[in-house]
Amino acid sequence: MLKTKDKVLSILKEIQGDFISGQDIAEKIFVTRAAVWKAIKALKDEGYDIDAVTNRGYRLRYVPDLIDERKIQDILQNCGIDLKVFHYDQVLSTNDTALKIVKENNSSALVIAETQTNGRGRRGREFYSPESTGLYMSISFCTDKSILYYRNITAMAASATALAIDDVVFDGADTTKIKWVNDIFIDQSKVAGILTECYGALEDEYNYIVIGIGINVYAPKKDFPKELKNIAGAVFSRGKSKDGDIRNQIGISIVKYLCSFLKNEKSLNMKCLDTYKKKSFLIGNYVKINSFNGNHTYAYVDGISDEYELLVTYDDGSKGIFNSGEVSVVKY
Ligand code: BTN
Repeated sequence: MLKTKDKVLSILKEIQGDFISGQDIAEKIFVTRAAVWKAIKALKDEGYDIDAVTNRGYRLRYVPDLIDERKIQDILQNCGIDLKVFHYDQVLSTNDTALKIVKENNSSALVIAETQTNGRGRRGREFYSPESTGLYMSISFCTDKSILYYRNITAMAASATALAIDDVVFDGADTTKIKWVNDIFIDQSKVAGILTECYGALEDEYNYIVIGIGINVYAPKKDFPKELKNIAGAVFSRGKSKDGDIRNQIGISIVKYLCSFLKNEKSLNMKCLDTYKKKSFLIGNYVKINSFNGNHTYAYVDGISDEYELLVTYDDGSKGIFNSGEVSVVKY
């Protein structure tokens, strides 16, 4: 049974930006004008931008982009994806929450939070997670396969994220770039990052995998902190946004792509790898490569291997392959 608020909202959406009087709404759904007014107030409190103009009535200007746990759950279930969806206002890190849930319930989970107080990036860095402007999500599952089997999962998640943003926000146009190994860029700005964490040992019977994805969907209300300003960007840059339901759609699309890539079917594996190669941000650039042991080196990037490794040529002409590390483009 729909609430008055939901009925009012669906009428406002139906007339797509036109005005409708309180009386007309009341008659359509058989309630009093006072009940319509109360419903409009509740919708405004939720973030819907509704004009109320004397003698003209009400007009919906803006639909907020709210996470709908139930809708995500239903759509994924209809696609045969068995993930339990959890939506929180605030967590320390969705990766931590997703790990806790999969360990306790032994079932796969998708955790989404409006904000994280301890969002983590790679190499122990903080991931800035301002309230409601981003999509902060983690997928966790338990597996009896070796962690080695999932060695390319961060790259796969990067392909899934890049494709999802292209599909949902840019109507499928090839817009996002992937910076090996886990960053998603639009133009020269980083709009998303991925942090995969694996728990278990090679010889363990069960391992837990947590794939955390953080996307700056909208520009943060107070802008990015000073240290991120030069690098971070939002999928919708300031002032530009599509109305409503973007974060749900991106989340659903990422999960669908990732699950298809994890099926280990040849054509899907190829799509994932091709996407990763085609979208590579680094090919043709001279880069600095920081290894995790603290060393660094410089080289030209030739390409990406079929194992998602970075293929490079050093200044002396010799060739190299990297399967981990962090890269920055050297600007002359
Ligand atoms: C990076 O850019 O270095 C990776 C960033 C990963 C951020 C996401 S947000 C959701 C999940 N929870 C976290 O604490 N981190 C990941």
